[in-house]
Amino acid sequence: MKNTRLTTLCLFLLVGPALAISAGIPVYLDPSKNIEQRVEDALSRMTLEEKVAMCHAQSKFSSKGVPSLGIPEIWMSDGPHGVREEIEWDSWNPAKWSNDYCTAFPALTCLAATFDLNLSLQYGVAVGEEARYREKDILLGPGGNIYRTPLNGRNFEYMGEDPYLASKMIVPYIKGVQKNGVAVSVKHFALNNQEVDRDRVDVEVGDRALREIYLPAFKAAVQEGGAWTIMGSYNKYKGQHCCHNDILLNQILKKEWGFDGVVLSDWGGTHNTKEAALNGLDIEMGSYTNGMTSGTGNAYDSYYLANPFLDLLKKGEIPLAVIDDKARRILRLQMRTNLNPNRPFGRFVCKDHSAVARTVASNGIVLLKNTRNLLPIAPGKYKRIAVIGENATKSLTKGGGSSELKSAYEVSPLDALKAMYGSSVEYASGYASGNPTYGRELKPSQNTGKLFDEAIELAKKSDLILYIGGLNKNHLQDCEGGDRTQFNLPFGQDSLIHKLLIINPNIVVVLVGGNGVAMPWLNQVQALVQSWYLGSESGNALVDVLSGKVNPSGKLPFSIPKKLTDNAAHFYGNQSYPGVNKKQTYFEDIFVGYRWFDTKKIEPQFAFGYGLSYTQFKYGKPVLEKKSIQAKDSLTVSLNLKNVGAVDGAEVVQLYVSQNKPSLVRPQKELKAFTKVFLRAGEEKLVKLSVKVSDFAYYNDKLQQWSLEKGGYKLMVAAASNDVKNVLDVEISE
Ligand code: GLC
Repeated sequence: MKNTRLTTLCLFLLVGPALAISAGIPVYLDPSKNIEQRVEDALSRMTLEEKVAMCHAQSKFSSKGVPSLGIPEIWMSDGPHGVREEIEWDSWNPAKWSNDYCTAFPALTCLAATFDLNLSLQYGVAVGEEARYREKDILLGPGGNIYRTPLNGRNFEYMGEDPYLASKMIVPYIKGVQKNGVAVSVKHFALNNQEVDRDRVDVEVGDRALREIYLPAFKAAVQEGGAWTIMGSYNKYKGQHCCHNDILLNQILKKEWGFDGVVLSDWGGTHNTKEAALNGLDIEMGSYTNGMTSGTGNAYDSYYLANPFLDLLKKGEIPLAVIDDKARRILRLQMRTNLNPNRPFGRFVCKDHSAVARTVASNGIVLLKNTRNLLPIAPGKYKRIAVIGENATKSLTKGGGSSELKSAYEVSPLDALKAMYGSSVEYASGYASGNPTYGRELKPSQNTGKLFDEAIELAKKSDLILYIGGLNKNHLQDCEGGDRTQFNLPFGQDSLIHKLLIINPNIVVVLVGGNGVAMPWLNQVQALVQSWYLGSESGNALVDVLSGKVNPSGKLPFSIPKKLTDNAAHFYGNQSYPGVNKKQTYFEDIFVGYRWFDTKKIEPQFAFGYGLSYTQFKYGKPVLEKKSIQAKDSLTVSLNLKNVGAVDGAEVVQLYVSQNKPSLVRPQKELKAFTKVFLRAGEEKLVKLSVKVSDFAYYNDKLQQWSLEKGGYKLMVAAASNDVKNVLDVEISE
């Protein structure tokens, strides 16, 4: 008897749930069904009101699910360098929770400077785990906009001036985040390349520049990265706001590129119901800075894609197919995220994430000058080291706008320098940026001669000066909502550096920022480092490089001009930047960054792709597998690379392509492949660079299609855009 009962019990335990499942669970909740089946089933169960309710915010950072069907809300968070602190339901105010102190990862310009695809994947996985753990369904990033002007307040969130570098580096980050069942929102689509008048400037740009420069990162994000959401930008293109722009969203993104995900508006980027309904917007966010109940019910109900949209649908002025397409896309997003029972559970503020942050940071730092080998600084070599500059202590994870972070910790450069060099280190701020909003800043009133004099006094009694300055995340610096108004360093730094040089030529200058700056003191400075907003591990990563624990291997993801008007956007005056009467014309067209410097034969202060090492690399003669190739081919360039110095290091070998006789004007060269190679001292490796011949094409704006011309091309193996080591000739035969 006992056995029979036991057998029955076992049978029930095994079979019971299966029966329950096949009998009870609806298709839309059944993970064994394919996503499209589940989407259609959910859609068939929804009312019109429920569909419309999904298409707009219900709070500052969430949108409605379908409560009657058990379909959850969608929760979003900035992005892109870490998970932003919790924000109040109806305002921009911090919610002051205690469980949202995150890992602050380096700014994406630093990631781009690593030229390391594997690090981009590690970064995406780690920040995606943090977003997942904080139960976010969409992480609002990465940024795919292009570094057109060194004044843009948000360049630190983007991946530089070159569309190929940006389109390669953005893909692994996206895959890493979405592996966690968290969607990215690639932003800001498109042409949001400045902060001045960002919400209304109407950008006029040629089709070639749009296709060859400003869209490639977004196209790669969709077609290679599989991005689940895209965020429209505030500005206009061809007179239409980009959050509901027929050409960008309907024709290019959804039709031509086959994007099956969701288009979010930027917060406050929606301006018209019919355009929002018909021009590709799927979820309207942030249209009202407060959701406080306005007289007639909840303000969210009066969003453009709320009641006004519902009314037009009910009147038949907008076809029901329009709302069904939006609802399908949103449901598909949910099947990929919060309705995916197999997604992992994430992790938050753990050693692995700190390690990723530190590695990305130290591998992104760029050594620009080291003439007397002042670097690296061996512990004990100097009796007294004067650390001067506010960025040695200022918190740089705070500020900057929506990407600011409430980090669980932040190691400052000064802390790390003291840990490395002990009592030989003494500090003087030297200047104050005067923005008490973000913590430890000194007040503007303190930005007087006193700070300057203290720094000079300290320098006089020191053997080495370590200057750590640059830009910061204050308003009108590297910060959302405004651009810098000058190319030179702010807060009197140039005169401070000049004064310090007179006192002691043993000075290492470290510039922290997301943009290039003027360097009037460059000829006298012996050692110069371009650093970035490095996040929680800032100090550790910087000292890893300054001490030689890590051999610098970063390369500039943008050109640094000697003067602002050498930069293409500033060559053509106000209509080009920042625009006149809210109209802006990209006169430079496709000649952005090194493309401009090459064509105009202007020597930049430092070139795209440039970066030194504590060792040296010898480039062998490159070999091309075959000289005559066809359009359908890929070609591989191989060369021996040797580390001929005394320390291990990594080099970024770059391949640029140039067409000999194009039928229309083209840049002198364009980056089409790169690879980062780690070599021990004395080690030699065979390096291979592969490139698809189809990547040699240009966008023919007359034919509105990509064109690849037969004939001769040059392949340039380079260590930087202005440091070509070898050139190979190749013929495209058909
Ligand atoms: C901001 C930004 C966008 C951010 C969003 C939410 O205005 O432009 O990048 O994700 O609003 O904070």
